[in-house]
Amino acid sequence: METMQLVLPSKPVDPQQNKSLIKLLFLFLSTNLLSILLFSNFNPTKLFFQENIPLLLELEATQSNLSLNQAQIKLLQINLKTTISLLNSHLNKSHKSQPKENNNAFTWLQSLKGELRLAVGPHKLPLGYTPNLRTDTWQPPIGLMCQLLSDDLAHYMTYEVGGECPSDAELAQKLMLRGCEPLPRRRCRSKSPARYIDPTPLPESLWQTPPDTSVVWDNYTCKNYSCLVHRAEKPGSYDCKDCFNLHGREKTRWLHDDGGINFSIDQVLKLISPGTVRIGLDIGGGTGTFAARMREHNIIIVTTTMNFNGPFNSFIASRGLVPVHLTVGHRLPFFDSTLDLVHSMHVISNWIPGLVLEFLLYDVYRVLRPGGLFWLDRFFCVGPQMNETYVPFINKVGFNRLRWHEGRKMDRGERMNEWYLSAVLQKPIN
Ligand SMILES: *[C@@H]1O[C@H](CO)[C@@H](O)[C@H](O)[C@H]1NC(C)=O
Ligand SMILES: *[C@@H]1O[C@H](CO)[C@@H](O)[C@H](O)[C@H]1NC(C)=O
Ligand SMILES: *[C@@H]1O[C@H](CO)[C@@H](O)[C@H](O)[C@H]1NC(C)=O
Ligand SMILES: *[C@@H]1O[C@H](CO)[C@@H](O)[C@H](O)[C@H]1NC(C)=O
Ligand SMILES: *[C@@H]1O[C@H](CO)[C@@H](O)[C@H](O)[C@H]1NC(C)=O
Ligand SMILES: *[C@@H]1O[C@H](CO)[C@@H](O)[C@H](O)[C@H]1NC(C)=O
Repeated sequence: METMQLVLPSKPVDPQQNKSLIKLLFLFLSTNLLSILLFSNFNPTKLFFQENIPLLLELEATQSNLSLNQAQIKLLQINLKTTISLLNSHLNKSHKSQPKENNNAFTWLQSLKGELRLAVGPHKLPLGYTPNLRTDTWQPPIGLMCQLLSDDLAHYMTYEVGGECPSDAELAQKLMLRGCEPLPRRRCRSKSPARYIDPTPLPESLWQTPPDTSVVWDNYTCKNYSCLVHRAEKPGSYDCKDCFNLHGREKTRWLHDDGGINFSIDQVLKLISPGTVRIGLDIGGGTGTFAARMREHNIIIVTTTMNFNGPFNSFIASRGLVPVHLTVGHRLPFFDSTLDLVHSMHVISNWIPGLVLEFLLYDVYRVLRPGGLFWLDRFFCVGPQMNETYVPFINKVGFNRLRWHEGRKMDRGERMNEWYLSAVLQKPIN
């Protein structure tokens, strides 16, 4: 938009004209202020404009009453017209971005009561503090599936405001796993572990089993780490049977490259320029051992994990590593092309429904930087699935293969004809 110079008359002006001049000046300033707002990052909110419409109309009326320099008025009129039409189109836009009233989700949000309603809003934003939100209301996020789990959700949102939260971590996780993710926030104090003591400093913390007092044991079958270390394998549970035992198999993971499906961290890091793997993600990383080993290489790995019948998140945190409580179905909470490495062992496998897996693989591709590595560690499936389904699937995403090895998975017997795939895939640079 053109900037306008307001040329003030050089001759003395009478008081009446002076008043008009001030009005004109105000009109000019407001108009241009609006133009600036409209063209800057400040995306005007509906609220802002609705409150200012009377002012604009008043200014428009004032304008027609002014008897100053014709050329100036012409310019002002053009300016005003543009501003008003911009204003209209913004009003239309902000109106369109509001949820539709005939939408189920909208109706559901409107029907909420009590604490849940307060938690998920919507809430009006204070005027003038909203440049990045692009809206005049704050709509706290809540997983769409929460709508279908309303009994559990209502239960979850029943607590004493300002008091201690119920011991319901299990309920929270159950909701998340069924698609009620993210959960709404609550206004209660989550229970702290009794007799909590300061954590062990790094690097000792990486390989130390934390004290039992560092955890709220809630409804876990085990009530201490000793029980978790020695728990028997449940039928059908292959992962993390003994990953709470930091002195057993966990201690040697990713140290030895056997030329087969077990790659070592050292060998994988050698695949790209030294030092260029710095930050990454381990999807479904159990008790955090991958992150611990990478930490020893000065690489920061964030580990997503659920608390499946054990305090996985607390355990990882006690090791001095970053746990993220997120289901495998959740969009990865990282921006595009940001991570040097994504690793996942066992978790990304044939138990994930095909389409979910496909979306997940593209999401991994998204968050990896060009040249970043996706270490698919011991993906498993049944023999024929490998070439019929999964190899084409993985190829389709568009990674380059740096390493690829298929091998038999024998822990449930040869008869099962199960196979592993370990691969290091690179996001292409161009
Ligand atoms: C414009 O002038 C008309 C009459 O000349 C007057 O009634 C009206 O109040 C004026 N409007 C403004 C905004 O000054
Ligand atoms: C805003 O929407 C109305 C009705 O949908 C339409 O008549 C008008 O032209 C729109 N204005 C702009 C500036 O888009
Ligand atoms: C914990 O277990 C008790 C008894 O089995 C049960 O009543 C309660 O609902 C459970 N809590 C959660 C959060 O699942
Ligand atoms: C650990 O918990 C189990 C039951 O969960 C109990 O049988 C055992 O005695 C506890 N061990 C210790 C050392 O507290
Ligand atoms: C790979 O490592 C696992 C332990 O992490 C071990 O049980 C398995 O035998 C190894 N596979 C090969 C082919 O060495
Ligand atoms: C998939 O095909 C390749 C090449 O034909 C073959 O070497 C491999 O054994 C097959 N994998 C499985 C699991 O059948």
